Amino acid sequence: MVTGKDLQRAGSLNLVLTGFMGTGKTAAGKILAHRLKRRFIDTDLLVEEMTGLSVSRIFKQHGEEGFRCREKKAVLSLEAFTPGTLVVATGGGVVLSRENMDSLESHGIIILLTASPAEIVKRIRSGKRPLLKSGFYARERVCSLLMEREPYYSRNHRRVDTSGKEPYQVAGLIIDGLGLNCRELS
Ligand code: S3P
Repeated sequence: MVTGKDLQRAGSLNLVLTGFMGTGKTAAGKILAHRLKRRFIDTDLLVEEMTGLSVSRIFKQHGEEGFRCREKKAVLSLEAFTPGTLVVATGGGVVLSRENMDSLESHGIIILLTASPAEIVKRIRSGKRPLLKSGFYARERVCSLLMEREPYYSRNHRRVDTSGKEPYQVAGLIIDGLGLNCRELS
């Protein structure tokens, strides 16, 4: 478990972005990884690589439970990397499993990204998420899922509100907040 002391040596821990769909984990994570010269891993993409199936296809063929099982395998596989070398963007539901969070906390600092429901609805218009079909009821669905998930998202070391912010601003806030040494490419 990461302590206050560990936060002072954030450079030797992975940075793990959690948060609801549409809070910008992937976009901010890619920028963070580039600026910190770390490897970027998106757990959804890792699941897709490990299974050879898209997230939507897994939901269709195996249901949410089937997806969570595969997602857990992907999350636990991150323990094999040297801590401090990764920026990880998690799927929004990774927090639902205590085992996932125990594992992520064993090698990383958990940074929760948040956004207002209105902003989330705006950002997820593409309609690719199996749990959020876009359309008239999208906002209601977002609000009820957010309420359901609230207790799970409370497991974090830092939180950053991304509403009205560009991903590069979010990445900057994280780097500054943790006092990370940034060896940005010029
Ligand atoms: C999910 C979030 C998605 C993806 C899957 C389920 C969730 O990831 O893992 O559709 O349960 O919140 P993003 O948060 O990257 O959209």
